[in-house]
Amino acid sequence: MVAKPFLTDIKILRERGRRHLEAGAVTEGYKADRATVLKLLNEALATEIVCVLRYKRHYFMASGINAQSVAAEFLQHANEEQMHADQIAARIVQLGGDPNFSPEGLLTRSHAEYVEGNSLIDMIREDLVAERIAIDSYREMVTYLGSDDPTTRRMLEGILAMEEEHADDLVSLLEEMGSG
Ligand SMILES: [Fe+2]
Ligand SMILES: [Fe+2]
Repeated sequence: MVAKPFLTDIKILRERGRRHLEAGAVTEGYKADRATVLKLLNEALATEIVCVLRYKRHYFMASGINAQSVAAEFLQHANEEQMHADQIAARIVQLGGDPNFSPEGLLTRSHAEYVEGNSLIDMIREDLVAERIAIDSYREMVTYLGSDDPTTRRMLEGILAMEEEHADDLVSLLEEMGSG
């Protein structure tokens, strides 16, 4: 019985590494469908930008009605969504794509919605809805990528974990306010 080699022959690896140098990190061994991955990442980027905008609006509105601890939570989430947007944009470029920052069509590309909310409770609820949408879409992307693009998958898993923390924070805020 001949053992199945689990690595490509070194000679072939070395030859492949020299071809298409301009593609940078995207090598011939890249298994995912790059166009689909870039489309998904641009949708995730739009989602994060919409979330930054919504949390910023909520942060300033909550500050205005003197709800400092909730406002602080909104601001922290806004900053973390911005971090996610930056991570995703960087990965899009690394994969040879163009990060779409255009305000035109932003809401259509985004999975989550932009809802201003009339009260503090409304704002928290809308943020929770958006987080839950993000959680499901990130989980689906992770499953879709499987082992075809481990780097993108790992990044999305990290973001997914943080969206779950955000949702958890928001539920706690609702409970504290007696609206859980
Ligand atoms: Fe995020
Ligand atoms: Fe989030």
